[in-house]
Formats: sequence, C-alpha cells, structure tokens
Amino acid sequence: MSKSLHEKTRQPNRPVSIIGTGSHVPDRVLTNSELESMVETSHQWIVERTGIIERRIAAETEFTSHMAAAAARNAMENAGVTPAEIDLIIVGTITPDTVFPSTACHVQKLLGAKNAACFDVNAACSGFLYGVEIGSQFIANRSCETVLVIGADKLSSIVNWQDRNTCVLFGDGAGAAILRHRPDSNGILSTYMASDGNYSDILHMPGGGCALPINRDNIEQKLNTLQMNGRETFKQAVTSMMRASQVVLERCGLTARDIKCVIPHQANIRIIEAMADRMDVPMEKFHINLDKYGNTSAAAVAIALDEAARTGRFQRGDLILLVVFGGGLTYASSVIEW
Ligand code: ACO
Repeated sequence: MSKSLHEKTRQPNRPVSIIGTGSHVPDRVLTNSELESMVETSHQWIVERTGIIERRIAAETEFTSHMAAAAARNAMENAGVTPAEIDLIIVGTITPDTVFPSTACHVQKLLGAKNAACFDVNAACSGFLYGVEIGSQFIANRSCETVLVIGADKLSSIVNWQDRNTCVLFGDGAGAAILRHRPDSNGILSTYMASDGNYSDILHMPGGGCALPINRDNIEQKLNTLQMNGRETFKQAVTSMMRASQVVLERCGLTARDIKCVIPHQANIRIIEAMADRMDVPMEKFHINLDKYGNTSAAAVAIALDEAARTGRFQRGDLILLVVFGGGLTYASSVIEW
C-alpha cells in the first residue's frame, strides 16, 4: 500500500501551541460498590479488568455544554484569554445537548464568546485530539488567532444502566485547551489522525439517527444506548493506539525515549499496560486517572492533559505524546513541545 498523505510529516507554516488547559467533572461520585447494587458485578471484577474505582455522573440538569463551559472558563483563566478573544470554538462530543444547534453554539452562549465561529466534531473518544488538529490548521493558515477546543461528554445519558458489559466503564466530564501561535515554541510538532469505518459496529449507538429514528420499539430494544463488543474494541484499541504512536513519532524523527510523558485515552488500564509493554515504555511515563473518572470519552485525554500539566508531570520545552482511540473507529496521536 502506498504511503497516505496523512503519514507524511506536516511542517506547519506557523507553529501552534496549547497556551492553557482546563477541566471539569461533576460532583457526584459513583463507586464500584454502588454499581454492585445496580447490576451483577463486583468492585474486584471492575478493578481487575479495567482499573476503574469510581466515576463522576452529571446531574439531570447538568448538560454537556455546562461541563464544557466550566472546563473552558478554567482553560481561559489558565491561558489569560478573554471570551471576546476566541475566534473559534470546537467541541468534540458524541453526547450533544441537542442534535442541533451544536454544543459549541450552546457553549458560546454560556461563555459570551460572541466573536467565535462554532461547530462540533463527532469522533467519539478521539474528538478532542481531532479538534486540536482542526483548530491548529486554522491558526497555522492564519484564519484564526485563538481557538478553544473542548472534549466533553455526558456518557451517562446514553449508557444502558442494565448492561454490566458497558455501564461500569464510563463517566462524565469535560476538558479544554486554548490554542495560539506562540513565537518562542515549536508547539504541536505533528498530529496524526486516522479512521476505519469497517469497524463502525463494534462500538456504537444504533438508534437516534435517520437510520433508526427514536420510536417506542427502538427504545424498548435499547437501541438508543451505547453498545460495544468489548473484546474486539480492546484489540483494536491496542493496535490503533500503537500504530498512531509509531507514525507520529516517526514523522518527528523521535522515539518513545524522547517523550517525557504519554497521555493516553483513559479507557482501561490493561489497554495502557499492553501499549506500554509493546512500546517498551515504563508505565511511570503514562499519566493515568481512569481510576477516578472511568472513560469520559472525548473528555478523557483533555482532562488527563490538564491534570498532568497542573501537577508538573512535564515542564516548558518537554516533549509529550497524546494518543487516543474511539468509536468509528477513530484514532489519533500528537507530539507536542510543551
Ligand atoms: N462484572 C462482572 N462480570 C462481567 C462484567 C461486569 N461488569 N462485564 C462483563 N462480565 C463478564 C462477561 O459476561 C464474561 O462472562 P462469561 O465469560 O460468562 O461470558 C466475563 O466477564 C469476561 O468477559 P470479557 O468480555 O472477556 O472480559 P474482558 O476481560 O475482555 O473485559 C472489558 C471486558 C472490560 C469490557 C474489556 O473488554 C475492555 O475494556 N474492552 C475495551 C473497552 C473500551 O475501551 N471501550 C471504549 C473505547 S473508546 C470509547 O469509549 C468511545
């Protein structure tokens, strides 16, 4: 197979940096022990098979846009940016407040970011990193100066709470980043994005679109909830995140040894361990918070990035690797000089 365009190194004509990050998770903690009373499961099974101890669940009145706006305010404060300075808002989500308008438009209203153009990106758990790459292109080609990218999901709203195969895995939250050209940094060195629609049915929500509109029959069959082939998803997650890491490192002429901190999608500790093992990277280099939040979909890598940055996992000038995987299939990776 010939090398695709995506696999060739991209040299941005104007480097783009993440100049601030933020995150938000709901107050409500749902523990494994509580799940024991909801489905046939155990704290021990969940910890051994996933590494998850607890997750956050948004209140009925707390929507994806509310969490997204809270994370965005946090990121704007961190970056020293005002709402009026934002030219573009991109929200990666698969649980929008409404099918339309986009969640990004709802966030714009909440923030008062009146100068921004707004749209959502549907790339499941890869939504934040896809958004970072899209936003970067707008800055690199000088269409925008300041871009707000958010990964936000309220997966609790589409989880089947009677399905023990899935309901133990997910949580709610949001993470955000402000992108800008920073003259003194190389910023985002390269981002790789890929998809494989042939695997669209291993992790999906069949109902709710025009193929299976919401009606009583479809709701009774739970087609309006997330469905997953866990074993296949696990396999694809390891393979695609490995591939994404290799491609982006090669593009930059780097190896995993050059990376100070890896921030992976937070789905399952065993997926991350398998990656660490095959990449020959010590687990200590991976920033992990899935024990506290579970898999928060598009928010996961964004929350982890914010947490890692704020807790000093890396410093200005260090190289970090972000790598994600999600329904679609979609996957992506990015090497960033912090
Ligand atoms: N509690 C107790 N038992 C359970 C539970 C549970 N919560 N869930 C499943 N089981 C049972 C199964 O029914 C099965 O029983 P059986 O052998 O009698 O049939 C047994 O446990 C083993 O099931 P497996 O599917 O083989 O378990 P596995 O070790 O593969 O772990 C898991 C399952 C955790 C879902 C794993 O496959 C996984 O993490 N897959 C990837 C999930 C993922 O990453 N999803 C998100 C990707 S991106 C995005 O979110 C959008």
